[in-house]
Amino acid sequence: MPKLLVLHGPNLSRLGQREPERYGQTTLAAINQRLQRLCEAAEIDFEAVQSNHEGELIDYIHAAADEGVGYIVINPAALTHTSIGLRDALLAVQIPFIEVHLSNIHARESFRQRSYLADVAQGVVSGLGAEGYELAARAAIRRMGG
Ligand code: DQA
Repeated sequence: MPKLLVLHGPNLSRLGQREPERYGQTTLAAINQRLQRLCEAAEIDFEAVQSNHEGELIDYIHAAADEGVGYIVINPAALTHTSIGLRDALLAVQIPFIEVHLSNIHARESFRQRSYLADVAQGVVSGLGAEGYELAARAAIRRMGG
């Protein structure tokens, strides 16, 4: 069975409480549950992990290659704007990925408007809140043949 890996970066464990006017009321657990249901319906394996640590996210990306993960959906959070390491990890494993942001990073501070991942992503969803994860997961599932 193909597998979808969803990676959530720093501070996303606080969703629901963290700047709800910007990031919404939906918790990370609720987002993951919706994505899990989508995968179950399509008979796609699913794993979601959150980490506040760049190196740990890189380790998950490496492990994904060894496990044969077919697609990654990633919200790199603040690491979007800083992490050449995450970019290099995704390039190293050559697993197609979709970058997701709850907020529209292009409508925010200039330092958020640069992504180190976007040009090597299959696609980017930004500004559609929690729904953005679902849209990305649906696209990934379809591309895996689910
Ligand atoms: C974010 C946008 C980033 O700039 C920010 O650092 C986050 C969340 C988003 O989902 O809108 O932590 O990735």
